[in-house]
Amino acid sequence: MNIILLGAPGAGKGTQARILVEGRGMVQLSTGDMLRAARTSGTEMGQKVAAVMDAGQLVTDEIVIGLIAEQLEKGAKGGFIFDGFPRTLAQADALGDLLAAKGESLDAVVELRVDDEALVDRITGRFTCGNCGEVYHDRTKPTKVPGVCDVCGSHDLKRRADDNEDSLRQRLLEYYKKTSPLIGYYHAKGKLNVVDGLQDMTKVTADVAGALGG
Ligand code: AP5
Ligand code: MG
Repeated sequence: MNIILLGAPGAGKGTQARILVEGRGMVQLSTGDMLRAARTSGTEMGQKVAAVMDAGQLVTDEIVIGLIAEQLEKGAKGGFIFDGFPRTLAQADALGDLLAAKGESLDAVVELRVDDEALVDRITGRFTCGNCGEVYHDRTKPTKVPGVCDVCGSHDLKRRADDNEDSLRQRLLEYYKKTSPLIGYYHAKGKLNVVDGLQDMTKVTADVAGALGG
């Protein structure tokens, strides 16, 4: 099964993707995580996109489509979860073409719908394990032991450079201008499922499972 998790910054795409990976053996393809990894490893592409990401703008379609094409080549038995991709109509068309070229298709799109007001709190409270990628929140999902990742025991807990109110404002603008048209695009293709992303995490997880047929 190949699915897209669609939603504004902080909607819970990464959180739900990790739960699907664990429960269903799917492979998460987060273009945001791939771009951050490129920055950390200091590649030329990573250096090129750093300022764009910190300002909350979208990097070019060409770069992210290239990243996804590379990962699709590796295949995934349990299917792919596209997290934060596609974000433009050109990316959506490219994804359709890439899947078709492999004789595959998209099974479902799940939109995690949230209010803008909730997002500031989600984003400013978020931190992530630099070792295993587990996502936490100061209030709604703290670590059991302060400063230690519950999953892998690492002390390398980080906050993202773009997790501040100025970047978030720009990320939201980009979302409404360039990404939200995908809601209509996938609705017209009969693929769209909407889940209330403001519910607590376990309820969101249950509704995502329901949207995917249980
Ligand atoms: P990306 O990394 O994709 O960021 P984003 O879309 O802004 O989304 P986030 O990762 O911020 O949020 P999320 O929905 O994953 O929420 P999470 O689960 O972490 O992209 C970053 C940048 O890279 C972009 O701005 C752009 O520059 C570039 N980029 C990436 N992809 C691109 C593309 N395709 N094209 C062009 N440019 C691209 O949850 C957030 C917080 O809320 C966490 O603390 C979590 O614990 C908490 N939380 C989650 N669910 C709940 C809940 N139900 N209740 C309470 N708290 C919750
Ligand atoms: Mg994310």
